[in-house]
Amino acid sequence: MSINNQFQDLVQQADLNSPAPETEPERQAWFLARARRIVQNRRAQQDRALTFRVETFGCQMNARDSEKIVGILESAGFTEAASEDADFLVYNTCTVRDNADQRVFGRLGRAGHLKKNRPGMKIAVCGCMVQERTNVEKIRKSYRFVDLVFGTHNLYRFPEYLCSALESEGMVIEIWDRADRIVEALPVARKYPFKSGTNITFGCNNFCSYCIVPYVRGRERSRAPMEILRECQRLVADGVVEIMLLGQNVNSYGKDLETPCSFAQLLTEVCKIEGLQRIRFMTPHPKDLSDDLIRVVRDNPKIARHIHLPLQSGSDRILQRMNRHYTKEQYISLAQKIREQIPDVSITTDIIVGFPGETDADIDDTIDVVRRVGFDNAFTFIYSKRAGTPAAKMPDQVPEEEKSRMFDRVLKAVQETAHGRAERLTGRTMEALAEEVNVRDGRYITARLSNNMLVHVPGDASLIGKMLQVRLDECRGFYFFGTIV
Ligand code: SAH
Ligand code: SF4
Ligand code: F3S
Repeated sequence: MSINNQFQDLVQQADLNSPAPETEPERQAWFLARARRIVQNRRAQQDRALTFRVETFGCQMNARDSEKIVGILESAGFTEAASEDADFLVYNTCTVRDNADQRVFGRLGRAGHLKKNRPGMKIAVCGCMVQERTNVEKIRKSYRFVDLVFGTHNLYRFPEYLCSALESEGMVIEIWDRADRIVEALPVARKYPFKSGTNITFGCNNFCSYCIVPYVRGRERSRAPMEILRECQRLVADGVVEIMLLGQNVNSYGKDLETPCSFAQLLTEVCKIEGLQRIRFMTPHPKDLSDDLIRVVRDNPKIARHIHLPLQSGSDRILQRMNRHYTKEQYISLAQKIREQIPDVSITTDIIVGFPGETDADIDDTIDVVRRVGFDNAFTFIYSKRAGTPAAKMPDQVPEEEKSRMFDRVLKAVQETAHGRAERLTGRTMEALAEEVNVRDGRYITARLSNNMLVHVPGDASLIGKMLQVRLDECRGFYFFGTIV
């Protein structure tokens, strides 16, 4: 676990005989100290460790938030459980598509049964889904066993809410409509010792017409460059070799800062950190991916040869209705420019099918882009109607069977280009970061190439976190089998 020493000192110094301080982060340090005392007492009473489990449902940003929640729970004295049958269970939710919401409610129902057999168990629901009032109402009415509900903007107050949940009965609900500040310095427990995400912006200002994110994550806020660099340096000192810079639209980083700093400038500074071997970023919006950024990627071998460039649709008519601010041809020329300037780069994308008013002719356009750009991979999503977004009110919603037919067409095209792109690398030797023991076969480890593809090589857990030279012997569609050279 990586705990910021300064914050650790604040926790040590907290005077629990005085009321909680009003300033941050001192206030959260005080509550963390109090939570530690509660956990210690319960451990002594029950003569066993108290356990926690955090379940993550969303994107990288959501996963990073989970690491913060885990950091606080570990720091309070909980130990991680292998299943959801734990003393403190947290669902960190996503609401970007309807099936994400449904999954959470399904799991929550089962958690209610677990709670019946585990006296004192606490259940918390946080994340994007509970930024929507209707979901909170549903939890309040139909999932009354939930103990704590808190939103995305007040995550930094988790130590305080944790104390309330541990000390009181009944549901604690704290949702804010917007963020009041960015609080640095709280503990974070990384899922992987050797790689980490780092937030560079929070929120989004783009309001793509189908997307709920700007409503649940609020307006875009950039972290100060010094805070980001300091965090990256700390991570590297702690053994991290790969960092992913996270934001809903990384290209607009820094525009809201007192001294503006572009994403390309920030990236250049991050590259200078000694010991940091690989840098990724997610997600750049095609509408403002600058030539500067392409140059910085090209000139810095530390930056991964991978650009995730969400297309969403290849039809100009649909792109306009999606409020994406680029055309099919603009997207294609941007992708071509990236490929020309950055040899060996992989370009991956997100595609939505079945947007209101979409026809087979629009899908033809999307497939045309898939083929002309030759995506290395793509996440294809069936359009999901999100209440409160402009697209949900569009009259010409596409019937479900139509959507899934369109989905199959796009998926087939994507699979063809992706296989072709992977195939051409067979026989090459490339650098790969060993990430984990292969889940299916313990004699192999799984490593990630700079271009984000996976390769399985014979090896053991001692290699994890190491950068290897790997020969790609055999292509299996999206991934490889290889050998260390
Ligand atoms: N900020 C990122 C995406 C965040 S959401 C970007 O601009 O690309 C991740 C992906 O979910 C999106 O790229 C989009 O493809 C998909 N998505 C968002 N809203 C959706 C919806 N209502 N239905 C289906 N897919 C959606
Ligand atoms: Fe959603 Fe568009 Fe913002 Fe991405 S850029 S989070 S798709 S509104
Ligand atoms: Fe991410 Fe889902 Fe929220 S995609 S920002 S966790 S709605």
